[in-house]
Amino acid sequence: MCGIVGYIGKDKCIPIIINGLEALEYRGYDSAGLAYVDKGKIILKKEVGRIENLKNNLDMNVESYLGIGHTRWATHGKPCQENSHPHRVGNITLVHNGIIENYDELKKELIDYDLKSETDTEVVAAYIDKLYKETKDMLKVLQLLKKHLIGSYALGIIVDGINKLYAIRKDSPLIIGVSEAGNFIASDVPAILRYTNMYYLLLNDEYAVLDEDDVVIYDRDGSISTKNIEIFEGSYEAAMKNGFDHFMLKEIYEQPKVINDTINEYIKDKKSFFAKMKGLEKYKAIDIVGCGSAYHVGLVGKSLITEYGKVLVNVDIASEYRYTNHIYSKKHLIILISQSGETADTLAVLRKAKKENIDTLAIVNVVGSSIAREADKVLYIKAGPEIAVATTKAYTCQLMLLSLIAAYLGVKNGNLDDSIFEEYHNIVRLLDDSLKDTKDIQKVAKMIWQNKDVFYLGRKVDYALAMEASLKLKEVSYLHSEAYAAGELKHGTISLIEKNTPVISIVTDDSIRSKTLSNIKEVCARGALSIIITNQDISDNEMYTELIRLPKVSKLVESVLVIVKCQLLAYYVAKLNGCDIDKPRNLAKSVTVE
Ligand code: F6R
Repeated sequence: MCGIVGYIGKDKCIPIIINGLEALEYRGYDSAGLAYVDKGKIILKKEVGRIENLKNNLDMNVESYLGIGHTRWATHGKPCQENSHPHRVGNITLVHNGIIENYDELKKELIDYDLKSETDTEVVAAYIDKLYKETKDMLKVLQLLKKHLIGSYALGIIVDGINKLYAIRKDSPLIIGVSEAGNFIASDVPAILRYTNMYYLLLNDEYAVLDEDDVVIYDRDGSISTKNIEIFEGSYEAAMKNGFDHFMLKEIYEQPKVINDTINEYIKDKKSFFAKMKGLEKYKAIDIVGCGSAYHVGLVGKSLITEYGKVLVNVDIASEYRYTNHIYSKKHLIILISQSGETADTLAVLRKAKKENIDTLAIVNVVGSSIAREADKVLYIKAGPEIAVATTKAYTCQLMLLSLIAAYLGVKNGNLDDSIFEEYHNIVRLLDDSLKDTKDIQKVAKMIWQNKDVFYLGRKVDYALAMEASLKLKEVSYLHSEAYAAGELKHGTISLIEKNTPVISIVTDDSIRSKTLSNIKEVCARGALSIIITNQDISDNEMYTELIRLPKVSKLVESVLVIVKCQLLAYYVAKLNGCDIDKPRNLAKSVTVE
């Protein structure tokens, strides 16, 4: 989702706009830009990647009091400077959030314009310039827009020679902030909260004209609106959490959306999916490397890529891999997984691989991060900024991307047909449903939160999921937890099971279900408090105190449903224990040292 911030007032606009864009980082973006008026001239600055890149190219002290800024999340056209906002055509400079569906039609009326980008937004800028040249009246132009534009839009517009900021919206959010020192436009309240908590909510087809001391809002019929000012009572942090108690919970609930964004990025258009993945089929062996949750998701990836892609996969922890000697096949690929793209050990593996001339592919969330920049090829997930230290949404997006790699290889080698892609859309709906009712998980949290030790069991992919579930629980709730391959129990661990020891078993893999069920019986016989998370029919209710039921779907996607339940369990146990959930003790979000 793109982010918009604009300001006109008595203070210098550049720091205000940059602060606002940073507060909107949670929306996700792949480039950022700014336009400001300096001595009557419009200056444009745009950079691909982080807002940091844009800041490095800006003088914060410029005496400019009118400007618009934007973070772009690419829809029409790749992330590059040319496609970034603001767009400037003729007398019009603008930023846009939304999608203009009829931009090809509009373009036909713009033969006099030499458009340079691939975006729908530049077409809108040219179209507004054409209307402005015809009418010489910006208010009339804003009135006319709803007749001409089909789709969704929030626009912030500056016109050459006019010291005003114009705004209009339809089906994309836009607010108008007001303060003594000046007035603002923004996609969301956090962007203005440092300066004011008073704002107007612009409704569909309404438009506004802002100058340094005044805001005039117009109804869709052109009459002046008398709407009330809204006051945001919460803190900046509360605004960012969007009604959730913690970022972790907010991010858990964002998963249907960001998974949808991630899969759409790859499979919305099948031709471009095959183009993006092209070449992966040539590898005879793949090493997947990451740390913590990124390592765990690699284990799930291994199980899918081996089963469907029929490729030899090895998974390792980056801090081990970097100091181990490896034997590489002629066609060998190393996949580096990292949310931050800055993890020191993972980066070290990448650099070592490059020295040894092994091909590298990075699966990364943060655009423009070191791992993304240095790998031979990068596939981005679209999780958006993750603020809670414990990863949730990045893990599931990584899982989806690894699954898409497995599906690509499976289709290429004839093991799957491309009807499989339907499963990815299906999972978004199922995940959304499963997040609507969390009573079952909250009940389990109440059963286990006072225990000292919690065990997770599973076999094959369920073991990989158990490892992530256990990590999540221990890092946020501080309960001691271990994940065991169910078949290993008898080789030592079962001595730790006593009356009421919580044992959470994950059972999704049909091929091994009966074996895991036997192990569950063994822990039940020793008095364990057995909780089963499963998409199988388990009729013997002696085997569990609580059963968390999941729908049965394709193996390529079902792990997402399991892990989201486990994330919620970790969250609720941590909450009952009064832990600092978003910032667990001793942990950092980005681990840039060994
Ligand atoms: C656990 C967690 C960590 C990270 C690990 C790797 O919740 O967040 O285990 O997964 O530190 O970080 P990235 O993915 O940024 O390389």
